[in-house]
Amino acid sequence: MKLKHYVLISLALIISGVSAQKPGKKEAFIDSLMNKMTLEEKIGQLTLFTSGWTTTGPSLKDDYKKDVISGRCGNIFNAHTVEYNRELQEMAVNESRLGIPLMFGYDVIHGYKTIFPIPLAEACSWDTEIIEKSARLAAKEATAAGLNWTFNPMVDISRDPRWGRVAEGAGEDPYLASLIAQAKVRGYQQDNLFSSQTMAACMKHFAAYGAPEAGRDYNTVNMSERRLRELFLPPFKAAVDEGVATVMTAFNELNGIPATGNEFLLKKILREEWDFDGMVVTDYTSINEMVPHGYARDEQHAGELALNAGVDMDMQGAVYYNHLKNSLEEGKVRMENINQSVRNVLSLKYDLGLFDDPYKYLDEEKEEEIVLSDELKKHALVSARESIVLLKNEKHKGSKLLPVKETPEKIALIGPLAHNRKDMTGTWWASADTASIVTVKGGLEKQYPDAKITTVFGCSTKGTGREGFDEAITAAENADLVIMAIGENRLQSGEAASRSDIDLPGQQKALLKAVHKTGKPIISVVMAGRPLTITWMDENIPAIIYAWHLGTRTGDVIADVISGEYNPSGKLVMTFPRNTGQIPIYYNAKNTGRPFDEDNKYTSKYLDVANEPLYPFGYGLSYSEFEYANLKLDKKQLDLGSEIHVSVEVENTGEYTGQEVVQLYLRDEVGSVTRPVKELKGFEKISLKPGEQRTVHFTIDPEDLKFWNADMKYTAEDGRFKVFVGTNSANVLESKFEYVAQ
Ligand code: NOJ
Repeated sequence: MKLKHYVLISLALIISGVSAQKPGKKEAFIDSLMNKMTLEEKIGQLTLFTSGWTTTGPSLKDDYKKDVISGRCGNIFNAHTVEYNRELQEMAVNESRLGIPLMFGYDVIHGYKTIFPIPLAEACSWDTEIIEKSARLAAKEATAAGLNWTFNPMVDISRDPRWGRVAEGAGEDPYLASLIAQAKVRGYQQDNLFSSQTMAACMKHFAAYGAPEAGRDYNTVNMSERRLRELFLPPFKAAVDEGVATVMTAFNELNGIPATGNEFLLKKILREEWDFDGMVVTDYTSINEMVPHGYARDEQHAGELALNAGVDMDMQGAVYYNHLKNSLEEGKVRMENINQSVRNVLSLKYDLGLFDDPYKYLDEEKEEEIVLSDELKKHALVSARESIVLLKNEKHKGSKLLPVKETPEKIALIGPLAHNRKDMTGTWWASADTASIVTVKGGLEKQYPDAKITTVFGCSTKGTGREGFDEAITAAENADLVIMAIGENRLQSGEAASRSDIDLPGQQKALLKAVHKTGKPIISVVMAGRPLTITWMDENIPAIIYAWHLGTRTGDVIADVISGEYNPSGKLVMTFPRNTGQIPIYYNAKNTGRPFDEDNKYTSKYLDVANEPLYPFGYGLSYSEFEYANLKLDKKQLDLGSEIHVSVEVENTGEYTGQEVVQLYLRDEVGSVTRPVKELKGFEKISLKPGEQRTVHFTIDPEDLKFWNADMKYTAEDGRFKVFVGTNSANVLESKFEYVAQ
């Protein structure tokens, strides 16, 4: 009988007066269960192994099924589908001594089978409702396939596009990234983990993983506590405030202490300051990695450092599995700490409802009905539309190329991403259904059924081959319009995919130059997982659409934007450098004591490139034009406990209905520590018809002025502030006020 052991436990618990899943009974339930557990079974609950299906890192252990049955592995990741997870769950429930159900984790980063845009792209929507909905639908699809825990949101701030993992985050700004982190936690968890359509979220990678030296993944991180708190921690704090269920530690060291053994991060900040009461899991083998870091003598020592620092669950490293018992016997760790970690894991399983029904996520009919359903595919279109950023739209021979309203007779569609399904997922494609991905070619053919579209590969996204150039040039010469589909393949961003040169990879720039020589009108559609240094393109190609990696509906959405069926509205959440040497480059920089002055040699600048980026944070065009006027503040002095109301008029002076993200920035002119030249503090996304004007309102209160001052107090200081409102971080109207606390 399938539920044999589980029924036995439940019966035993009911007899002892404890029944699962009744509010208020959780502690008693867990106490009672823990009283029955051996040390090995407890360590088993702290152990997470990958299934044999996919590995997302080095594989150390492959007899996970045996460990599930013996109770030595209480959690599995990279296993999905109802059929497979049911098989594993039955092993845990029926064949392990206590029948404790497994939790199933997976990297559902931007979808499970239906793939939404990569997170960096979706962040460019500046639309937290859409982002929340993507997470909610991803959870709906993933839970229908047997999963109950996602390793997302990834909330690492990064100012370095060489780092491949910028694709997974929300960009460089802590304010926007915090709102996005919260939207995702809400989407996955819906304030109701017990539902069979929600899943536990996991904020990662705690912390400062987005600041590796030289942008090289896993590299050393060194930064002041002030910088950490000001820039890198806010999205984590925001996710904790939103009730995120779990936290993943980071691979990197922070100021000499690996994050996975870092008491300052895991105890002082996470548990004490933020009051986090969820569960902490390692990133993959990051306990083991404390040995090569040079922080632990051997794996047993590494396990002790991790447990003592507050790590509950060991992902894949088998360190707790192999050594925790010895460490306890040798007095290196305390039973009390092991028990607390076990409690954190069981508590999550309880909240998920696994003790109530271990098979609640395992329903074949639901899987059939929800996975790849129209509801998901429709949203994949909505979210991808809002993610696209129009970088340039200038005239070619007297007229703007975009939108392409009239069907061109002959289109040459050129590039390695023109008819490519696989790479459209971008990094972390989970269990993507590649067959259902709409390619750029597919989208354009639907959009322009009467055009003759010639699709040419041109060259690969990597390597040196130029064999396809001639065919591409001929196709361009014979066309009325050229569309270049170029950028990065899905392995050129993401984990372990840092690049020292972030220009178009392979021979694609040479291909673009060769096609450009034909003199034909060219629209570049760039699909990539990071900002690329497309300076030559910006100088030479009249129209540039930055599409990132858009997922399942890629081709439909690109065709919508090219044709004008959808008017692009995305705004960059990472600054685009002109060349790699400008990195790190970000909008919320400090002024320096010698800000650039072209008449003065001894000011902060490069000899060979401008200080300004190619495209600033917050930048993105529309087929409409928006004019800003009359920035007004209702008072010139802000007192403690009061507010300033800011208003600005925005008018659509173009010919199309369009959306605009109106952005508000502040500058604290003088501080006890120097302050950035601008910091995002508010935004509103509005839609205006041609000729329509709207007054947009913002409120500033003293909370918006706070920072970590010279005494490391989070406070607002009296003094002068500048207020900027505009269409991006560089193009703004300006006003000012004074803050007087008393
Ligand atoms: C390593 C990655 O850093 C992390 O983000 C991911 O969740 C785990 N592997 C599991 O796949």
